[in-house]
Amino acid sequence: MKDFSKDSLSIGIIGAGVMGRGIAQVAASAGISVILHDLDEAAVNDGVDFVYKMLNRAKEKGRITEAELASSKDCISKSSELKNLSDVDLVIEAIVENIDIKQSLFKELEAIVSDDCILATNTSSLSVTSVAANCSKPDRVAGFHFFNPVPLMKLVEVISAIRTSRNIVEQLQALTKRLGHTPVLVSDSPGFLVNHAGRGLITEGLRILHENITQVEVVDAVMRDCLGFKMGPFELMDLTGLDVTFPASEQVYNQYFQEARVRPTPLQRRRYVAGLLGRKTKQGFYRYEDGKKIELEEQPVPEIDVTSSFWISRNNEELSDKIIKLLQAADLRIDDSVLPDENSICIVTPLGLDATTATINESLPAERTMAVDALFNMDKRIILMSNPATSKEVIEESWAAFTKTGRAVSIIRDSAGLIGQRIIATIVNIACDIAQQGIAKPQDIDTGAKLGLAYPQGPLALGDATGAENILTILENLQHVYGDPRYRPSPWLRRRAQLKMSLLEEE
Ligand code: NAI
Repeated sequence: MKDFSKDSLSIGIIGAGVMGRGIAQVAASAGISVILHDLDEAAVNDGVDFVYKMLNRAKEKGRITEAELASSKDCISKSSELKNLSDVDLVIEAIVENIDIKQSLFKELEAIVSDDCILATNTSSLSVTSVAANCSKPDRVAGFHFFNPVPLMKLVEVISAIRTSRNIVEQLQALTKRLGHTPVLVSDSPGFLVNHAGRGLITEGLRILHENITQVEVVDAVMRDCLGFKMGPFELMDLTGLDVTFPASEQVYNQYFQEARVRPTPLQRRRYVAGLLGRKTKQGFYRYEDGKKIELEEQPVPEIDVTSSFWISRNNEELSDKIIKLLQAADLRIDDSVLPDENSICIVTPLGLDATTATINESLPAERTMAVDALFNMDKRIILMSNPATSKEVIEESWAAFTKTGRAVSIIRDSAGLIGQRIIATIVNIACDIAQQGIAKPQDIDTGAKLGLAYPQGPLALGDATGAENILTILENLQHVYGDPRYRPSPWLRRRAQLKMSLLEEE
């Protein structure tokens, strides 16, 4: 077999749709011969025209030379008969997402290609093992999962099915690098790496909505302002489209035999059925006009004088210190007595608990107690949470007081783990379990989430930065409050938190 990192190669791409033409473009740009094949001749013509247009644009923008443009175009040829692929070194299948059609295509291919030709599928949701199931040489079949748009999304999941040989996987990793992309090695499993890891943000965001804790814009703002994400879960779902996100959520959940950690909510299905798909239908979780999101105004801050003192729980010194400093800098009065004065507003800083449980655990007056998320960055936005008994006056005075710190303030109803804590803990926990199951190496899990999901840092590094022990506490408390196995900590997380090891460290 050839060395895919350097030998001259010929690749057959089957399916000239969105993905096939994108893969053809990056391969031709890397000087590799490509035969683009489709059942539909018009699709092949469109596909090649599209690649030419992209290459011409790259030349106009000065990204490639005239000579590179010509040689890339020369690399591409068209095919409308499968037998044209008889001499290729690799076939990448990017046809319709249907297991029966893919299985029969792979079987047909085996009779055409040479014995050492690699057969790869770009499937996004089918098991690679089942795509290979009818093949007489399943050891040469692997997943080669590109992301859309292929030239811009620099990640490729190289998926090893149950019977894929090590050498095939290594050649595909080498080829990925040659295409200027980054490979992550993933074992065949529901959602592979990126679609599995991506369930945390989306499904936990939806749970917050399902529990009627706050509005979508608050959840998204927390993820952007306090956690540095480019987009919150609802902005992301609107961009991707619920027609993609909902089936993917349902598939990963069901293929894992109803694993609670990745469970979707009924709300997602209802919105999908109603056609509220996102940007493409001009209405999803937000409304869009001329392709622009209609921004909703922040709720007006109550115009009232702040007269009360604030008593801050010392349950977690590090977190309470942050709140005290913030309030002092805004010239607000601190009640520093051991037990709160009867007129003070009490502030708790729970980790994974709701305001109700934190209030009761600390024997505080419920009508005068509010919770704050002090774990994450509070430079732009502060999240204040009431319990069901907190009085309206206390909510409004706390709101006005924290606004004096110069930050945006969002008021939410009671939620274990507020917003950021429960979403981050879910993301980290799922990533830990991907590591525990050996689906991918810890470094690849983080690379996959950064390149495939545009996370500011990988989920395991994020867990380390937040503190594995904090994540464990949040999850245990979430499980205590909700009684839901969704929040049960992965053994990978529990052991590393207990042993004070990095979540990126293998055994
Ligand atoms: P598409 O619908 O844009 O293109 C599919 C093409 O395959 C069509 O041109 C069709 O004529 C052709 N085709 C169908 N059956 C064929 C057959 N038996 N032989 C030859 N050609 C056939 O689809 P798209 O979006 O490019 O997806 C292709 C594959 O890539 C699917 O498995 C999908 O799950 C996967 N994928 C899609 C992504 C996306 O964002 N669209 C991302 C990653 C993977």
